[in-house]
Amino acid sequence: MNHYAILANPGHNRIYFDTALVIGCAELQALLQSKGIEVTNIEQRDIGVPAAICFSTETPLAPEALQLLAASSLYYALFELLPEGLLKPLTPPSPFTFPEGMSQILRYTGKTNEQFTRLMINLAVSACKTQTERLCLMDPMCGKGTTLYEGLIRGFDVIGVEINQKWVHETEVFLTKYMKQGRYKHKAKKEKRTGANGKKLADCFVLECAADKDAFNQGENQNLKLLSIDTRESHQVIKKNSCDIIVSDLPYGVQHGSKNAKAPKMERSPLDLLKEALPSWRQSLKSKGAVVLSFNEFTLKWKDAAAAFEECGYIVKDQAPFIDYLHRVDQSINRNVIVAVKP
Ligand SMILES: C[S@@+](CC[C@H](N)C(=O)[O-])C[C@H]1O[C@@H](n2cnc3c(N)ncnc32)[C@H](O)[C@@H]1O
Repeated sequence: MNHYAILANPGHNRIYFDTALVIGCAELQALLQSKGIEVTNIEQRDIGVPAAICFSTETPLAPEALQLLAASSLYYALFELLPEGLLKPLTPPSPFTFPEGMSQILRYTGKTNEQFTRLMINLAVSACKTQTERLCLMDPMCGKGTTLYEGLIRGFDVIGVEINQKWVHETEVFLTKYMKQGRYKHKAKKEKRTGANGKKLADCFVLECAADKDAFNQGENQNLKLLSIDTRESHQVIKKNSCDIIVSDLPYGVQHGSKNAKAPKMERSPLDLLKEALPSWRQSLKSKGAVVLSFNEFTLKWKDAAAAFEECGYIVKDQAPFIDYLHRVDQSINRNVIVAVKP
């Protein structure tokens, strides 16, 4: 057997650091299992360093698997556990293109914690079986873009949909400034998406960028599209079967609510929004693609979300390591995660 330990990032949100370690174990299991690697004895254990998750594998981990671990939401450092309590530091190849700081710079009310966003992306990557070389990630309710930045950092193409024009604008401004200040090669343009009758459906901000100058010159750009439209109509402006993974943090039905483009009054039910949005997202998702959503259990129950997914023809992942992510965020939010795939 081979024994490893991941030292958890001490910068992780202290409010749910302990639960983060528990759900982080399931995330690691999902990541390694997706590569056919069986993990045993995965647990938080005292090995003389603070907050470490230990696990064992039959065969030694290849660089590809180490790289996957370095993309896990808790990752800070990785060690091989040797006899007599010795820790051998391992240096996985970096899983990132852009600096990790991209998703950490902005701070605002309503932001989804970036490590938790990374965990959701990892579950989606693990459940996705599209075999696409460069994944396309969509966040159909992207707020001010945490999922999009995490996707770009990871080397994916990304598509964001957001109904709040102000947030769309702020995301565009942030990204443009980030690219300029970091001296990253990029091209930005604004387009209009129109319907069959020529009527405008959405504004679209398009960014082609690369962390590496040579990659840009060789046309190996990462692509971002940001669309200001109601997510329930997003299929009208996003190419059919074009996304590998959909990752989003649903409105919690607490203070942010969900906005209906036609009726500006706040809607209170995340379940209604989910039921209306799922058919639209399904059109944009490739077959064997995966959806991962987080939501507030106080306003939406996992079993009701699962029923909505199944009614719309998705297959819900109802076995470990894709379940049991419930954790407390604050007094009004008990956050859970659901994972589903398109057959
Ligand atoms: C929990 S927030 C997402 C926050 C985001 N992950 C971030 O870190 O910035 C949910 C988002 O869904 C958006 N939203 C609500 N209803 C929507 C709809 N019908 N279509 C598109 N976006 C919607 C809200 O405006 C809000 O930005």
